[in-house]
Amino acid sequence: MELVNAVKERRSIRRFSDKSVSPELISKIVSNAVYAPSWKNTQTTRYIAIENSLIKNQIADDAVCGFEFNSNTIKNAPALIAVTTRNLRSGYERDGSFSTSKGTHWQSFDAGIATQTFCLLAYEKGLGTCIMGIYDEKKVKQILNISDDYSVSALIAIGFPASPVEVPKRKTADDVLSVIE
Ligand SMILES: Cc1cc2nc3c(=O)[nH]c(=O)nc-3n(C[C@H](O)[C@H](O)[C@H](O)COP(=O)(O)O)c2cc1C
Repeated sequence: MELVNAVKERRSIRRFSDKSVSPELISKIVSNAVYAPSWKNTQTTRYIAIENSLIKNQIADDAVCGFEFNSNTIKNAPALIAVTTRNLRSGYERDGSFSTSKGTHWQSFDAGIATQTFCLLAYEKGLGTCIMGIYDEKKVKQILNISDDYSVSALIAIGFPASPVEVPKRKTADDVLSVIE
């Protein structure tokens, strides 16, 4: 698959077929996603693949801030990925001081790169994904028993798409690019 096609054709998928997504397939995707760049190669991203429908439904029912859209997406998906990141690493020096003026910012930045890398690799395998930012982090951490050393940086619904979806309108290069010569 051409990279440009993956970037342009990947869509957020919120309706999935009944086909399951095996842990082995998720493991294959993650084995390539680990090549995503990160702050000083700290590689703080960890993926939790939730295939258990009881736990998945608990997140859908109790941990999406009442946002029904995400609740439905999570229930409909055969699996859910919690993208977690180790705190106090990305953006920091070894002595615990910030390396830049942007404080903790780089932790989420790394998580975003890792998440999109994961989603593009999943797309290459024929899978659909939906990155979700609307969730109650405290509740997700409780349900998944995640320690305070980690943050939940994103949730990703994953499965085989039920049907193709429209491309949401994009800005053009002229809209978003300014060149200084
Ligand atoms: C950080 C982030 C948070 C998002 N949160 C949600 C969400 O909570 N629920 C949802 O349905 N989609 C969510 N999305 C998906 C966006 O709505 C989607 O990427 C955007 O509309 C463009 O559509 P496309 O991904 O199909 O190109 C999120 C995407 C990102 C990058």
